[in-house]
Amino acid sequence: MPTTIIIGTQWGDEGKGRIVDYYAAQSDIIARYNGGDNAGHTVKAQGLSLALHLVPSGILYPDKICLIGAGTVVNPLALLEEMQTLREKGINVSAEHLKLAAGAHLILPTHRALDGAAETHRGHEALGTTNRGIGPVHADKAARIGLRAGQMRDPGAFAEAVGALVELHNAQLHSVYGKAPLDPAQVVAQMHAAAELLAPHLVDGTALIGEALERGQRVLCEGAQGTLLDLNLGTYPFVTSSSPISGGAMVGLGIGPREVERVVGVAKAYTTRVGAGPFPTELTDATGEQMRQIGREYGTTTGRPRRCGWVDTVILRYAAQVNGLTDIALTKLDVLSGLPTLRIAVAYDIHGERHTRFPAEWGAAALEAATPIYEELPGWEEDITHVRRRTDLPANARAYTARVEELIGVPLTFISVGPEREAMIVAQQP
Ligand code: GDP
Ligand code: IMO
Ligand code: MG
Repeated sequence: MPTTIIIGTQWGDEGKGRIVDYYAAQSDIIARYNGGDNAGHTVKAQGLSLALHLVPSGILYPDKICLIGAGTVVNPLALLEEMQTLREKGINVSAEHLKLAAGAHLILPTHRALDGAAETHRGHEALGTTNRGIGPVHADKAARIGLRAGQMRDPGAFAEAVGALVELHNAQLHSVYGKAPLDPAQVVAQMHAAAELLAPHLVDGTALIGEALERGQRVLCEGAQGTLLDLNLGTYPFVTSSSPISGGAMVGLGIGPREVERVVGVAKAYTTRVGAGPFPTELTDATGEQMRQIGREYGTTTGRPRRCGWVDTVILRYAAQVNGLTDIALTKLDVLSGLPTLRIAVAYDIHGERHTRFPAEWGAAALEAATPIYEELPGWEEDITHVRRRTDLPANARAYTARVEELIGVPLTFISVGPEREAMIVAQQP
C-alpha cells in the first residue's frame, strides 16, 4: 500500500505544502488531485521560499515526477506564469519532471470574469472566493460542457472549442450580470499559444499512476484547500467547488482505496479561515490579531488577512472521521509561544445542547448558532523554534499538544515549530 495522502483538516492554509515537501523525499510521484490556482502552498527549503499554486510541492526534488492530476482545474496562463517564476529561481520544470493530466479541466479568462461577476452580484452575501474561476469551471464540468487539457493536443479543434465556450460565457456575462464580453479572438489566441507550450507536459495521469503502483513505487497525493471547504462535506455554501478530502484523491487521480496506507491530516495549532462563512472559535480581539501578526496570516494567493481563532477539536475529530486520518501534522505551534492562556474547543453549545460532533449537514445556520465550549490550559513563554524532540518542548507545550492529540484520537506524528523544512519534530517515524 504505497500511497500517502496529505489533506487539510480545517479551512485551508494549514501548512500542507511544507508537509508534502517533507514526504516528497521518500516518494516517486507527487500528485495534486483537486483545486486550481486558488491554492497557495508554501515551501521553505534549500534557501528558497516558494509560493506554489498549481505545481505540486515536490518540485524541489528534480528526480521525482510531479503530476497535476485530472481532478484539478488548470488555468493554462497561470500555470505558465508559475512555471516561469520557478524557472527563474533555478527550479527544473521540464516536461520530464512536471506532468499535466489530460483529464484536468481548463480555466479560461471568461471563467474568471464570471467568478468576479457572480461575487459582485451576491453583494453582501459574497462567498469571498479567490476570483480564480473555480466555481464557474466546476459548473461547466458538471454540466458536461467543459474543456479538458488533453484537447490542447489538437490545435485546430481546441481553438474551435475555446471559441464556442467563450461565446457562451459572454452571453452569460452580458445577460445575467450586465458585464462586458471578452474578445473571443484574443482568448483563442492566448489559449493557442499556451497549448503549444503545455502540450509536451500532457500525460494520461491515471495510467502514469497505475504503472507506478504496479512497479511498487510510492505515490504522494497532495490535497489543496481543507476539509471544511469540501463541496460535499464542508460548510456549504462557504466552500470551494472540489473535494479536498482524502476521497478526492481517489476521484481526482484514479487510485483505489486499498492502495492507501496513510492519510496525514495537516492541522494548525490554532484555526484560520479566509473568505466568508461561519467560524465558531474566531477571535476578533487582540489575541486574534497577535496570531495574525506572529503567524503572518495573510493569504498566499490573494494577500487577504486570514481570520484567526482557537484550535477546534470538534472540527479536527470530524476531519479524522471523514478523511480516515492515520496521522496528524500539527503546524505552527511556535506561533502560540507567549500567549498566557490557551483555549481548546472541545464541544459546541447549540441552542442549549452540548454537541461533540460537528453539525456538518445542518449548514451555516447551525454553525452560526454554535458557541464553543473551551478547556483552558496555561501557555509557555519560551521560543520553541529550535526544538526537534517532543520531550524537549516546554512542559506546558507538551501538555497542550498531548491534550489536542487525546481529543482528536489520532497520533501527532509531526509537530512543526517554524516554516523551514528542518523546523519539525517528527514524533514518530512514518
Ligand atoms: P498550505 O496552503 O496548507 O500549504 O499553507 P500556506 O502555505 O498557505 O500557509 C502556511 C503558512 O505558514 C506559510 O507561510 C508557511 O511558510 C507557514 N508555516 C508552515 N509551518 C509553519 C510553522 O511551523 N511555523 C511557522 N511560524 N510558520 C509555518
Ligand atoms: P490552500 O490550498 C484557504 C477559500 C476562499 C473562499 C472559498 C471559495 O492554500 O489551503 P474559491 O476561489 O475556491 O471558489 O473560493 O474557499 N479558499 C481557500 N482558503 N486556502 C485555500 O487553498 C483556499 N482555496 C480556496 O477564500 O472562502
Ligand atoms: Mg495556502
